[in-house]
Amino acid sequence: MAGTIVIGAQFGDEGKGKVTDFYSDKADLVVRYQGGNNAGHTVVVAGKTLKFHLLPSGVVQGKRILIGAGVVLDPRVLKKEISDIGSKGMDLGIDPRTHIIMPWHNLLDEGREELRTTKKIGTTKRGIGPCYADKAERIGIRFEELVEEKRLQQRIREVFPVKKAILEKVYNIKVPFGENEVFDEYNALGKEFRKYLCDVSLEVCEALENRKEVVFEGAQGTFLDNDFGTYPYVTSSHPISGGVTTGVGMPAAKINRIIGIVKAYTTRVGFGPFPTELTDETGEHLTQKGNEFGTTTGRKRRVGWLDLPMLRTSMRFNGFTELAITKLDVLSGLKKVKVCHSYTVNAKEIKYFPYSNKGLEKAVPNYREFEGFEITGKEKKYSELAKNARAYLEYIEKEIGCPIKLVSVGAGREDTILKQ
Ligand code: IMP
Repeated sequence: MAGTIVIGAQFGDEGKGKVTDFYSDKADLVVRYQGGNNAGHTVVVAGKTLKFHLLPSGVVQGKRILIGAGVVLDPRVLKKEISDIGSKGMDLGIDPRTHIIMPWHNLLDEGREELRTTKKIGTTKRGIGPCYADKAERIGIRFEELVEEKRLQQRIREVFPVKKAILEKVYNIKVPFGENEVFDEYNALGKEFRKYLCDVSLEVCEALENRKEVVFEGAQGTFLDNDFGTYPYVTSSHPISGGVTTGVGMPAAKINRIIGIVKAYTTRVGFGPFPTELTDETGEHLTQKGNEFGTTTGRKRRVGWLDLPMLRTSMRFNGFTELAITKLDVLSGLKKVKVCHSYTVNAKEIKYFPYSNKGLEKAVPNYREFEGFEITGKEKKYSELAKNARAYLEYIEKEIGCPIKLVSVGAGREDTILKQ
């Protein structure tokens, strides 16, 4: 039995796509368990950049890929990603319980952001929040309904007039489509995707019983978790490791490996607290060298130094069994590299991420400074990394209390160093 979870330890965009692709090599199944096409997973193979928002990154390796019940699925996006894969085809399964993003969800996402005057979240406007809200409110449309004409028609008949009224009367948004139009389009998509219907919970649990390798690919990051992130500046699902059990329908005990993906510095897209944020020329260096622009929305990411209180807390939420450090090469060329070791809050030193934004607003980072280092791109073994780079990595390992097993020094699969 081998269940591996790949988790973003920070605010998302840590490079989970690359690491999932790397470990998918030996996987029998690659599974997504939360989020939707708000994610953007980039994989670079033989110099070719592939980007996915919804399909698990394992699709690149031609693996069987599964979308679990905890995901919210936009069928229009699915159609596009399937067509982008082209003639190669794919082996895909979608859980019947997966909720469907309907066109009104995108409009509601925009409408809510517009109406927020002080606390704009900066969502990806992909309809994620409104779709999860309908799920919690028990009025959502699920994949099992999308693929059955009569049930779909009945559900759209129930929901459409309510959503139209809310959009027009509350948000003052004119709905540019009619009920029949939505039904015709989504019914056609449902017919096309019916072949993918599969009880993902059952398939995953049987695979694990039969000692198959299953990789669970997280989307977003720990501090965007709906409960444990910087609420309300979060997403609407559970990117932390616990999200796998509810997002797939399986026992936690079946997981034996939890890989925390840590970018060698910190980035964040959208609004919300960010204690180690850099807005100076060092920040600009990280943005440009790291190409820190969102895969999904193209927005410039905010950047800052690595934050250990954040990572110690991430370790507590997720129970990482190992770490993968990504984008170490982006720090190359800086004279000094800083790491936030702790915060001072109300004259007290604290080593964990405050549980509220109120505490975070008062948190003043205490930094440790490291000598800079060069990454040449020729390093193939851990021992070949510059001494100062190794000192930086080993400090992180010691402070988080978790071994680093992989270091990424470039976008390609070949730019990956395994640490024994
Ligand atoms: P939503 O998930 O579109 O509702 O957006 C909520 C917050 O999560 C916003 O700050 C987004 O920028 C952020 N977010 C959502 N998906 C990602 C991601 O894949 N990477 C980084 N940030 C994300």
